[in-house]
Amino acid sequence: MSGHPNILVFDSGLGGLTVLREVVKARPDARYVYVGDDAFFPYGQRSEEAVIGRVVPLMGELIEAHAPDLVVIACNTASTIALAPLRARYTVPFVGTVPAIKPACARSKTKRVSVLGTSATVRLEYTRALIRDFAQGCDVKLVGSANLATLAEAALGGGKVADEAILAEIAPCFVAGDGPDSRTDTIVLACTHYPLLLDRLVRLAPWPVEWIDPAPAIARRVVSLLGSSSASHHHEQSAAILFTSGQRHRLVSALTPYFGGLVPA
Ligand code: DGL
Repeated sequence: MSGHPNILVFDSGLGGLTVLREVVKARPDARYVYVGDDAFFPYGQRSEEAVIGRVVPLMGELIEAHAPDLVVIACNTASTIALAPLRARYTVPFVGTVPAIKPACARSKTKRVSVLGTSATVRLEYTRALIRDFAQGCDVKLVGSANLATLAEAALGGGKVADEAILAEIAPCFVAGDGPDSRTDTIVLACTHYPLLLDRLVRLAPWPVEWIDPAPAIARRVVSLLGSSSASHHHEQSAAILFTSGQRHRLVSALTPYFGGLVPA
C-alpha cells in the first residue's frame, strides 16, 4: 500500500456520508470512493437473504474496479447482515458499522436506552445478541423505523420534511418511566442516515437525551488498521461518489462538507 490508501465507503444511499465525514477527518490524505447503492435502497425493508444476495457480489465488482486498501461498510443494516459473508469471501479488510449498544449503556445514567435503527437491523439476532452481551443492567428498547432513512435522504436533497413525520419515527424511543431519573436518557443512532437529521432530532426530542453516533469510533478503527495520516502529501487526496443507479449526483454543494471540503468527482 502507498502512504495514501484507497478507502471505499459503502452504504445503501447517502447515510454513509456521516461516517465518511469522520474517516476523512482522521485520514485527510487518503483517496476516497463513496458508493451509494441507491438502486437497492432502502436496505431496511429487505430480507437478510436479499441483502446478502445483493451486497456480496456487488462488493466483488467494487473491489475489482477500485482496488481499495480498506472498505468501510457505513451501513448498520448491511453490516449486521452481511459483514460475516463479506469477510469470508474477500481478503480486503472491512470495517463495519454496528449498533453502539455497549458505549450507550455504559453512558446511560437512568439505565434506560433506546436503539433506533431500520426495521431489519432491530429485528436481527446480531443486534439482540449485542443487547444480551452489553446491556450492563440497562433496559434497552429496540425501535425499528420504517421511514427515517428515506426522510433523511429527502432532507439532504433539499426536500421539505415535516417535523411531525420525524417525530412520529422517534417518539417510541422516549420511555417516560416514573420521572426524569428513570426515563430514557440515551439513544443509539443505529442507522447511518439518522445523524444527517441530528439537529432536528435534538430539537424535536420530548426531553434532552444523548444521541450516540458511532462514526468517530469507526474512524478510530480505520486509523488503527491503516495507521494515521501521512501529513505531507495532502495534494494526493481525491474523492469520488458513485451511485449504483448510474445517476450523477446533483448535490455537490451539500455533499462537499462530508468529503472534508473536497469536491467529489
Ligand atoms: N444507512 C443504512 C443503515 O445504517 C440504512 C438505510 C436503508 O434502509 O437502506 O442501516
